[in-house]
Amino acid sequence: MDAGPATPTATSRERQAMLRALELAANGPARGVNPRVGCVILDADGTVVAEGWHRGAGTAHAEVDALSRLAPGAARGTTAVVTLEPCNHTGRTGPCAVALIEAGVERVVFAVDDPGHHSGGGAERLRTAGVTVVSGVLAHEAEAFLDDWLTVARLGRPLVTVKWASTLDGRIAASDGTSRWITGEAARIDVHRRRAAHDAILVGTGTVLADDPSLTARHADGTLLPEQPVPVVMGDRAIPSGAAVHRHPRGAILHHGHDPAALLAELRSLGVRSVFVEGGPTVATAFLRAGLVDTVLTYLAPVLLGGPRLAIGDLGVETIRDAIRLEPVGVEHLGDDLLIITTPTRHPVESVPAGHTVSHPENGPSHVHGHR
Ligand SMILES: NC(=O)c1ccc[n+]([C@@H]2O[C@H](COP(=O)([O-])OP(=O)(O)OC[C@H]3O[C@@H](n4cnc5c(N)ncnc54)[C@H](OP(=O)(O)O)[C@@H]3O)[C@@H](O)[C@H]2O)c1
Repeated sequence: MDAGPATPTATSRERQAMLRALELAANGPARGVNPRVGCVILDADGTVVAEGWHRGAGTAHAEVDALSRLAPGAARGTTAVVTLEPCNHTGRTGPCAVALIEAGVERVVFAVDDPGHHSGGGAERLRTAGVTVVSGVLAHEAEAFLDDWLTVARLGRPLVTVKWASTLDGRIAASDGTSRWITGEAARIDVHRRRAAHDAILVGTGTVLADDPSLTARHADGTLLPEQPVPVVMGDRAIPSGAAVHRHPRGAILHHGHDPAALLAELRSLGVRSVFVEGGPTVATAFLRAGLVDTVLTYLAPVLLGGPRLAIGDLGVETIRDAIRLEPVGVEHLGDDLLIITTPTRHPVESVPAGHTVSHPENGPSHVHGHR
């Protein structure tokens, strides 16, 4: 039986070029609606002849940026190595698939399929035009790099990380509500670094009223990190006018209501791609119950508190069969504490809402500036 044409695979030079393209992608702005994309152009010998990356909404896409660095006609017969499938969409800029075809690029190697309804389909367009296409090269690395953007594109909501710091017996505060500090300095430094890597940081009114947190991302000496997630407070009670969160440099978003999905929809409409949920237990439980959590960070301190203040409340689990199982992703020692990183394996059905379309990432408006 005819096995048909062999599926093309990437050469070692192309894999190397993909690593470089990922480095280039990191130069782009990490916040807003646009993905960070990098591109390397190789000549027929596998030598790098041009590099490019996307600098944000309304600017050239990575492929076009790289092509623009070549003399007219010089792209003929080259290979473009790009971290995301070239788009097939006309927005503020034309489709990259067409730009590559018109430039005479012979081969396109990319890492991650573009999940956008409008922008996807670039690979097919390239193949139809006779360009050899190799997909899935270093896909794992590229997916990890684009995790927040891909979550928005695939699920229509920001990426959600839930964090809590608990004692060995699963308590997040003493009986009187005090919780500073359960973990040591190394764990707290790690939390601040991770805060700075998210677009938004969320707590409930209960935490604001109990702890009056500033919700800033800080160095160990208390000075502010360069990146500050926008603080969000969820709940119906009023926050005192003198609350520290009102002095946050980004200004606080106060979200009335108790529905995590509605909150995420609001944040998404503001261009937020990733949310760091810092509790307290009521809000963390609501997100877990709704199946709207991508990663759980548990900072575990060798401390016992006993008492009623549990890290997580009622999840609706009546029997062990219904337990929310978490997949271990990593364990880190931070001073005397442990950080356990897990991802929920059982999500209640979650999908892109009916009628929802993913706008082309690199052409839409950018509401939130800065980067992760
Ligand atoms: N160790 C840690 O990692 C950590 C982290 C944070 C907090 N804490 C501790 O947690 C304690 C506060 O706990 P908490 O549970 O009150 O804090 P919380 O989760 O921050 O706030 C709960 C409040 O938020 C509102 N809310 C928002 N979404 C809700 C929903 N889906 N369902 C129900 N209510 C919702 C409700 O207030 P409204 O009536 O205003 O709507 C609710 O009372 C404090 O002792 C604090 O120190 C510990």
